[in-house]
Amino acid sequence: MKLFDVYPLYDVEPVKAYDSTVVDKNGIEYLDLYGGHAVISIGHSHPHYVKKLKEQVEKIGFYSNAVQNSLQSELAQKLGKLSGYDTYQLFLCNSGAEANENALKLASFHTGKSRVVAFHNAFHGRTSAAVAATDNAKINSPLNTQQSVTFLPLNQIELVKTQLEKGDVCAVIIEPIQGVGGLDEGTTDFFQELERICKQNDVVLILDEIQSGYGRSGKFFAHQYHHITPDIISIAKGMGNGFPVGGIMIAPHIKPSYGMLGTTFGGNHLACAAALAVLEVIEAENLIDNARLTGAYFLSQVRGLSGVQKIKGKGLMLGLEFDFEVGELRKKLIYDQHIFTGGAMNKKLLRILPPLTVGKKEIDQFIKALQNVLIGEKV
Ligand SMILES: Cc1ncc(COP(=O)(O)O)c(C=O)c1O
Repeated sequence: MKLFDVYPLYDVEPVKAYDSTVVDKNGIEYLDLYGGHAVISIGHSHPHYVKKLKEQVEKIGFYSNAVQNSLQSELAQKLGKLSGYDTYQLFLCNSGAEANENALKLASFHTGKSRVVAFHNAFHGRTSAAVAATDNAKINSPLNTQQSVTFLPLNQIELVKTQLEKGDVCAVIIEPIQGVGGLDEGTTDFFQELERICKQNDVVLILDEIQSGYGRSGKFFAHQYHHITPDIISIAKGMGNGFPVGGIMIAPHIKPSYGMLGTTFGGNHLACAAALAVLEVIEAENLIDNARLTGAYFLSQVRGLSGVQKIKGKGLMLGLEFDFEVGELRKKLIYDQHIFTGGAMNKKLLRILPPLTVGKKEIDQFIKALQNVLIGEKV
């Protein structure tokens, strides 16, 4: 059997990785400023993470959600404490799309309504309702487009109000900082007004923190810059540092019932061990402060670089918008300078999503490499 060919691949095969370094099968070392789509939060193969996963799999790796698993409550408690949401409830699943799928489904159960409001350039995943709320016609099949979703521009609160007042919207779903779309964000006024009109119209406000959460923005959650409290927060990516785990954090006024949501693998012992180890390292190594400080250093160093039109993002969720498409630049960074970076739907945007452990040394290495490529030749 051959593979179903859906991914255009770079010609690099990583076989080993540590902290922010990835080593390919020829022994070449790369600086990882992309973390495999913003997944690596505490650094590749962090010793504490490796130890905790090994210890857990030697005891028990998996059992279903039909029996007690106190690791889930331990995780919920630790996550509640570190994120400031200790009164919320945690439902565990396996990926970002699945987290949003459950968030939207729960919003619909809770309100008895079914239309969703999402935003231009949003990305929420590739499953049924999550992909329908993703602003990309190319990845929506006819099956997905049966869902009722209205897309609106960011920062135009009156347009949102008009939709919510129609009375049939169950959820507004929004990324605090857009990831795949290209790092655009709503203003604090917009988010605060959004929270108010959702409450007023019995609409569930879902903050998709799958990419921006877990300290990446320089706060535990990026929406905390706006002092809002969403009804549901979806999480994944950095949560497991590569182990597939996701979840939704649910406000206390949304009540559960048996069978309402469910999954075979979600919240298994290994996933909980990985997620707990991540939180322990984030806390012990002050990685959220590091994300904020290193992000600020990055911003101070990239100002004035040739060809850079705009600098976007917060903490270590960063984007550089050039006056040309960055496809070739990314290739040169990877093959000539041995640095992984990311692209976006906005073809002129270079995304920087490193492990939250990086410091000045890695940023300096990147700036030098970028200058080499930019000066070397016109890309
Ligand atoms: C903001 C956001 N939501 C949801 C997803 C989907 O996550 P997954 O690929 O784990 O399904 C992504 C993935 O890039 C994302 O960036």
